[in-house]
Amino acid sequence: MKGALFPGVFLKLKLPVLFINFKAYEEATGKKALALAKKAEAIAKKSRASIVLVVQATDIFFLSKKSFLPLFAQHVDPIEYGKHSGWISPGSVKQAGAIGTVLNHAEHKLENPVLEKAIALAKGAGLLVMACAENLERARQIASFFSKPDFIAIEPPELISREDVSVSTARPGLISDSVNAIKQIAPGITVITGAGIFNSTDVSKAIELGTSGVFVANKIVKAADQKKAILDLVSGLKTDKKN
Ligand code: G3P
Repeated sequence: MKGALFPGVFLKLKLPVLFINFKAYEEATGKKALALAKKAEAIAKKSRASIVLVVQATDIFFLSKKSFLPLFAQHVDPIEYGKHSGWISPGSVKQAGAIGTVLNHAEHKLENPVLEKAIALAKGAGLLVMACAENLERARQIASFFSKPDFIAIEPPELISREDVSVSTARPGLISDSVNAIKQIAPGITVITGAGIFNSTDVSKAIELGTSGVFVANKIVKAADQKKAILDLVSGLKTDKKN
């Protein structure tokens, strides 16, 4: 995959990849964020699976000192350093230890002009960018931006946090159509999918449909046994078909 250029460094992630979104869940905040990071880290170490933690901005610095797993911010604002009280600058999350950021998550939506500016500034700060798209049309629009993200995550909002059905089973056509559309417009963008991903079959199906990883929250963060949940999902990454 193509990565963001940053003073002499070409950032890239091993694929397929499991992005764990800590959201603002209490079970994934502060000390509990560290406990979850350590569980994921132990599994990544043993299985050699590629796992990225998508954490709250306030936890990035602390987690970056305690865990070797790559960290993404959940959002950054389209600002540079300066007079912007209360905003999150791309440079600040980079300095805190994040290697990337999510933008336009369904729970933090951005209009296209704002999103494109945020992508440009985040990449300028040396961050990888994963932009979320709620449908095929939005995926096409984002892939056509002049400032392109490194990843597009296809996430139909109505399937987020569902435990009975996942995007892989409910909308396989959305996944394959998005992969084809994005590859035609911008072949360098890596496609990820998320929403309701609940077991290893959901993960392997997403990969068979052409994506290079999954974006998961509920199944892991809210699990009674987080370690078991991560192990289950990671086992789904091991498919013969790699994108
Ligand atoms: O960011 C990942 C996401 O929104 C999917 O959430 O809880 O359905 O795994 P969840």
